[in-house]
Amino acid sequence: MKHENILIIGAGGQIGAVLTEALREVYGPDHVVSSDLKPLTQQSGPTEVLDALDGQALEALVKKWRITQIYHLAAILSATGEKDPMWAWNINMTSLFNVLEIARQRSLNKVYFPSSIAVFGREAAHQNTPQYEVLIPETVYGISKVAGENWANYYYRRYSVDVRSLRYPGIIGYQSMPGGGTTDYAVDIYHYATQQKNYECFLRANTCLPMLYMPDAIRGTIELMEAPANRLSVRTSYNLAGMSFTPEEIAASIQKEAPQFKITYKPDFRQAIADSWPASIDDSAARHDWNWRPEFDLDAMTRDMLQHLALQYAAKAQAPA
Ligand code: NAD
Ligand code: SER
Repeated sequence: MKHENILIIGAGGQIGAVLTEALREVYGPDHVVSSDLKPLTQQSGPTEVLDALDGQALEALVKKWRITQIYHLAAILSATGEKDPMWAWNINMTSLFNVLEIARQRSLNKVYFPSSIAVFGREAAHQNTPQYEVLIPETVYGISKVAGENWANYYYRRYSVDVRSLRYPGIIGYQSMPGGGTTDYAVDIYHYATQQKNYECFLRANTCLPMLYMPDAIRGTIELMEAPANRLSVRTSYNLAGMSFTPEEIAASIQKEAPQFKITYKPDFRQAIADSWPASIDDSAARHDWNWRPEFDLDAMTRDMLQHLALQYAAKAQAPA
């Protein structure tokens, strides 16, 4: 077992819920402290309530648990952020500064901060978007991620804080529900299909976006964090790719398993956000530096999602009311 004491901020979210369990497998349950705004239930290790805007509370937790690494997942995502841009900016940036400062002051070993494909805007190459590309995002979420990436790089260069980051594409998983993103349709659609319901998609049929299955995302995150520091050439945030598909392609993939499934389309404000993002991502820097390789393609993900969700919904149906 490796000897680190890890704090996860935003552990109750879509990615945090899964990452917490994965890190506990690697580092031991007692060495991974999960935290979120509200108490977390069904936890297999220590857990705390933490508002990441409260720097003093964060410092107290870091001291209490002798924290050596922080995974800072708390953020307001793209679609929710557009409803109140200043609120989203404040949460995304203040929480990140609190984490970077405590890491600097207490010489933490490592910090993880996820960025996003939302850093790109319409001026960026739409296909195979390069690692180093013009960054003119069109959401407050994307602006906060560009700023965050640059602050991460600044803390690394100026203070030697070992901050590492991935630009996640849309993340799809069966374990947890997404929290207000533009790629959420690609999770919701599997829940509808499992319940034998048709799905009305909030993006157009031909909107192609980069996506990644949760097991690949979690493995990639841990692989980046365990990579030797001298292998990492990118200290803003690494492009990361898994697959790219449109709503009509994911529906066709589901129909291979559930031929009766139907999709309809009613684009809303999230269409403009999706239109500003890349269709596919060049992740050759991650492949070169720390040997990143995704394992799941669309059909493999569909089979796995539908199998797990079928079991989940069957268990729910049998549970006492
Ligand atoms: P999520 O919305 O599901 O979870 C975020 C969690 O942060 C929530 O549990 C929320 O309660 C918590 N939180 C919010 N404000 C907080 C605060 N002030 N203090 C403490 N906790 C707070 O998000 P997610 O999908 O799990 O995303 C995690 C990270 O990954 C985010 O930084 C997000 O930008 C990034 N990311 C996610 C995706 C994706 O597709 N899910 C894609 C790209 C990047
Ligand atoms: N999945 C995220 C979103 O849609 C991308 O960062 O906001």
